[in-house]
Amino acid sequence: MPLSLDNIAFLQSDRAHEQLESLASADLSDANILPLLSRLRRSFTARQAAALLTTLRLRKAAKTKFPEHGERMLFTDAGLQQASGPLLRLYRARQFESRRLLDLCCGIGADSLAFAAADREVHGLDIDPVRIAIARHNASLLRLPARFSVCDIRAGIPSAYDAIFFDPARRDSQDRRIQHVEAYIPPLSLARKWRAREIAVKLSPGVDLRQVAEYGGSLEFISAQGRLSEALLWLHRDFAQPVATLLRGADALRLRDDGAQGIAVTAPRAWLLEPDPAVLRAGLVQTLARQLGASMLDASIAYLTSDQPVQTAWARSWKIREWLPFQLKRLRRHLQARGIGRVTVKKRGFAMQPDELIARLRLSGEGDACVLVMTRCRGKAIAILCDEAKLGQFPRNSL
Ligand SMILES: C[S@@+](CC[C@H](N)C(=O)[O-])C[C@H]1O[C@@H](n2cnc3c(N)ncnc32)[C@H](O)[C@@H]1O
Repeated sequence: MPLSLDNIAFLQSDRAHEQLESLASADLSDANILPLLSRLRRSFTARQAAALLTTLRLRKAAKTKFPEHGERMLFTDAGLQQASGPLLRLYRARQFESRRLLDLCCGIGADSLAFAAADREVHGLDIDPVRIAIARHNASLLRLPARFSVCDIRAGIPSAYDAIFFDPARRDSQDRRIQHVEAYIPPLSLARKWRAREIAVKLSPGVDLRQVAEYGGSLEFISAQGRLSEALLWLHRDFAQPVATLLRGADALRLRDDGAQGIAVTAPRAWLLEPDPAVLRAGLVQTLARQLGASMLDASIAYLTSDQPVQTAWARSWKIREWLPFQLKRLRRHLQARGIGRVTVKKRGFAMQPDELIARLRLSGEGDACVLVMTRCRGKAIAILCDEAKLGQFPRNSL
């Protein structure tokens, strides 16, 4: 149920607060929702009961994004979905050098709260009064001095700030992904009007680089826990090749273009390395290959191969058992002859879907298991049989 301003006022009342506390560990499984709702209906109106249930549900869902205070905060469904996770919030807050900062399209204020917690003077603006009411509530709950205003930023923004963080909506009203930066709500071009010492815009991690080429600045692809999470366009910075950033706890590793080119293309060696998605998006596969002393299997495919195991946060590693040119019958016989009954398929540059390949391999399901990597080597389809590497057993690499 979408929350209204009346709902927010109710949820802030002592009565609602006590009820939410007493139901904090209630069973919210489908089977229990109706009995819970009818219980709440004895003391509350239908809208109030629904607002309480929505809040209980969202607080549970908020555990990952707001591990510390999520069980006490207020959210809307979409506001919670759009809020970034704690690693990204912390990282961004640390990247800005300026003290006075505008958070444009602040939503429920997740980023503003992180800026305030990092000692920045922050003013969050959003067009949606419900989100602003929630942002204010959460800031006061966490005793963070962030300021919030309802504002359509297309009509103008306050000028007395040194830095701007702009996080436009990247999904439309039907929750479909918006593919073009100028169709974001509001569009990226709005940023052309702004003057500030630092300006960063959050973009979809899949952004087409051609759409932002005319803006200059520097693009950063950020991954956390092996997932490509977002792209940040730093508009005030000089033009530079995209960089990849990998967040690990409070640490951020960064990989920059070092001009590496012409990395050797070889047959699979002892180890297969799969670069982090931020490396791919930033176009840094050759840079990583050079830094790891690895070669490529194919000039257009982002798998690397090395003689030695490398422990690096920038790539996952698999020990290669053997490899062979791909031919379905031959691969089936090969796996059967080795007693392999189950495979986990990974693929790059190989057209068939993993489920289809597994079905067509007709393996027994019994016996040994392996990771089967379907890819190309020098343009030809190959199958690589691998063990999954156990991290920690290899020498440390500084990368
Ligand atoms: C991706 S969300 C922002 C999430 C937010 N940074 C957070 O951490 O919770 C995009 C936000 O843009 C707001 N928005 C859309 N059009 C706007 C406009 N013209 N002026 C101000 N805010 C707008 C939406 O209400 C929505 O909250």
